[in-house]
Formats: sequence, C-alpha cells, structure tokens
Amino acid sequence: MAKLLYGFSCSVDGFIAGPGGDMSWLTPYLGPDQLVDELIPEIGSLLVGRRTFGGDDPHRGDPEREGKAFGGGWEGPQVVLTHRPAAPVPGVTFVDNLVGAVTAAKEAAGDRYVNVLGADIARQCLEAGLLDEILAMPVPVLLGDGVRMFDHPGGKPVGLELLRPNWYRVVR
Ligand SMILES: NC(=O)c1ccc[n+]([C@@H]2O[C@H](COP(=O)([O-])OP(=O)(O)OC[C@H]3O[C@@H](n4cnc5c(N)ncnc54)[C@H](OP(=O)(O)O)[C@@H]3O)[C@@H](O)[C@H]2O)c1
Repeated sequence: MAKLLYGFSCSVDGFIAGPGGDMSWLTPYLGPDQLVDELIPEIGSLLVGRRTFGGDDPHRGDPEREGKAFGGGWEGPQVVLTHRPAAPVPGVTFVDNLVGAVTAAKEAAGDRYVNVLGADIARQCLEAGLLDEILAMPVPVLLGDGVRMFDHPGGKPVGLELLRPNWYRVVR
C-alpha cells in the first residue's frame, strides 16, 4: 500500500515558497542532489494542491523543464486537489475532496510513495492522520517570508522519528 510522503525543498528557515508563491530563490540550487535523486525513483504519484498546480516554477524560463514535475526528472500520475478543476490535462485527475484525492493518489502510486506538493494540503493530510512521512530537503538560503512548510498557529507539537537523513516518520 502506498504511503503519503510530504517531500519538499525548503530554505533553512523552513519556507517552501517565497512571498506570493515565488520559487525563483530555488533556481540557483537546482541540479544534481543526492536527496532528490534518492526520492524520485520512490515516487509513484503526486498529490498536488491547486496553488502549486499552475503556480510558479523554479525552472521558469527553461523551455525544456518548465511546467514539468521535478523539471522533467519524474513522470507519472498526478492528482490535483481543488474546488475549481482546470481544463483536462493528460495524466492529471482533479478531485474536490481530501479523502477522495488521497485515495486516488494512493491507487495510482501502487506500492511506491504519493508525494504531497503544497503546504496547505500537506497540513490537511497531517490533521486527518493521513500523512506517513516527511522529507525536508533544505538549501542554503534564508527567506524570512513566504509559504512555510508547516503553518499551524496555536497547534500542538507533532512528533517525528528520524528514519534516514532528512527523512522522518510522523508519530501518531
Ligand atoms: N519547495 C517545494 O519543494 C515546493 C513544493 C510544492 C509546492 N511549493 C510551492 O508552495 C506553494 C503552494 O503551497 P500552498 O500551501 O500555498 O498551496 P497548495 O497546498 O499547493 O494549494 C492549496 C489550494 O488547494 C485547494 N485545496 C486545498 N484543500 C482542498 C480541499 N480539501 N478540497 C478541495 N480543494 C482544496 C485550494 O484551492 P482552490 O479552492 O482554488 O481549488 C487551496 O487554495 C506554491 O508557491 C508552490 O510553488 C513548493
């Protein structure tokens, strides 16, 4: 059974996007990366938030990589969680509820991981007890503002168990 993994690149201060969803801060750090290389073959499907889908791309301006998952380094089924589906896109399924989207993404992933893309939907997966693991891939920059990898003002601590470097299991 597929597991739900929240895998993301982030600044050292824990942002996955800059103000307004800007992703240009990540562009200088794209390229060979041990953690990304480890992750990609383990992904069976993507569960994508609507702001991530169609949002900014660190590969912006590169015609060969822009708009592709992991800059074209990964291909496969994507499930987009949204209240407002876009025009049909090959390989992309639009689902309007969390449980339905997670179920569809898990079925599509087979025995590999569903990688969750988007902080809002990752938080909802966590709150619903559906998130299994977290992989944080920091790059050496501070942003100070933007979209935090996890934002839950007033929330309680969430326990994590280290499985391998940068890779955690969510303790339930
Ligand atoms: N650094 C990285 O590795 C990385 C990875 C992924 C994303 N990002 C960045 O993170 C930013 C997006 O993250 P985010 O947290 O702002 O947004 P998000 O999780 O990508 O998307 C949130 C949106 O998804 C839809 N949605 C959420 N829950 C839903 C539900 N239960 N049912 C139906 N639709 C639902 C809503 O859009 P609608 O109501 O409009 O449908 C909501 O506004 C982008 O800038 C993206 O580039 C960075």
